[in-house]
Amino acid sequence: MGCHCTTPASAEAIQQAAEHLAAGRLVAVPTETVYGLGADATNPQAVANIFRAKGRPSTNPLILHVASPEAASPWVRLTDSAGQPIPWLQQQWECTATFWPGPLTVVVPKSNAVADGVTAGADTVAIRVPNHPVMLSLLQTCPFPIAAPSANRSNYISPTRAEHVLAALADQVAMILDGGDCRCGLESTIIRLAAEGVELLRPGAIPIESLETVFGPVRVPMATDSTEGNVTAVMAAPGMMRKHYSPAKPMYPVGVSESLPVAIHRVGRIAFAPLADDQASRYAWIATLSEKGDLEEVARNLYGALRLADAADCDAILIDVCERTGIGRAIMDRIDRACAR
Ligand code: TXA
Ligand code: MG
Repeated sequence: MGCHCTTPASAEAIQQAAEHLAAGRLVAVPTETVYGLGADATNPQAVANIFRAKGRPSTNPLILHVASPEAASPWVRLTDSAGQPIPWLQQQWECTATFWPGPLTVVVPKSNAVADGVTAGADTVAIRVPNHPVMLSLLQTCPFPIAAPSANRSNYISPTRAEHVLAALADQVAMILDGGDCRCGLESTIIRLAAEGVELLRPGAIPIESLETVFGPVRVPMATDSTEGNVTAVMAAPGMMRKHYSPAKPMYPVGVSESLPVAIHRVGRIAFAPLADDQASRYAWIATLSEKGDLEEVARNLYGALRLADAADCDAILIDVCERTGIGRAIMDRIDRACAR
């Protein structure tokens, strides 16, 4: 398997991608959040190949992508062992559908139809209907759901354009379907449906505040960070490592610049908005994520800038910070992980 270039997502290319998937091959697919590394979710060998291609531990489950809320039904179980509907679960499931297609993933009890490899043996499945015309068209063409993690090597930065996938996984995929730059630029928000109320497993492209208008209060598990004494969110998704989404270079949030090692002379800066000249002159390299400091745009451009920072001629990166509300919560979650050592 392998490919040398990305393929613009024409109708013909989408058909070809569906054929590759049906034959058990891996295809990189565009979504509104980040690019995914897709396989036929009903083919255990193809699913196993995802883990091999990414270097991902087989204990870390995958998201099942489907074309519509109705197409999700065969893969979830909303009833108890006697086959009776579970009212709170049905109700939360209906709330979920109001965010689909969109960047929301839900963890729900799985039906027996879901292959063990997808869920890493768990009795729940993570599922979403992505909101990208190319991906939706592909899902409608395929008679199976597409299992897909982000299309990066395990623990590196998620890809937000087709070229990012080409650089890292070209030899692992039959095709890279180019659907343009990802509109959100951060992964989907993941919640777990639960009798006590939905629980946040990963902050992402849909802010909690939006979820709360439909689901009511969203529970965010909190813990005290042993080193700093800070209260931080603990994420229960198995793939959420403290250090993740990291560039190879050391990165520091702005404000702790006084703790930059003295040996570092050439400092790069990722700024959310344009810097004043006297500020800008301090840096060997600068990426500006948004002309107006708009956080949606910051989210969209963040991962691309982390990749450029790795290639830039500097020894360390300082990055802006923002309030942890709205989309700012997901932005800061990713920055925390990228800065973790
Ligand atoms: O935006 C996205 O969600 C992208 C696009 C491609 O859809 N996908 C993505 O997949 O970010 P991945 O594999 O990089 O992250 C999925 C996360 C992992 O942290 C995994 O542990 C968690 O979802 N997850 C999957 N199934 C789960 C389950 N049954 N219970 C709890 N967490 C689960
Ligand atoms: Mg990922």
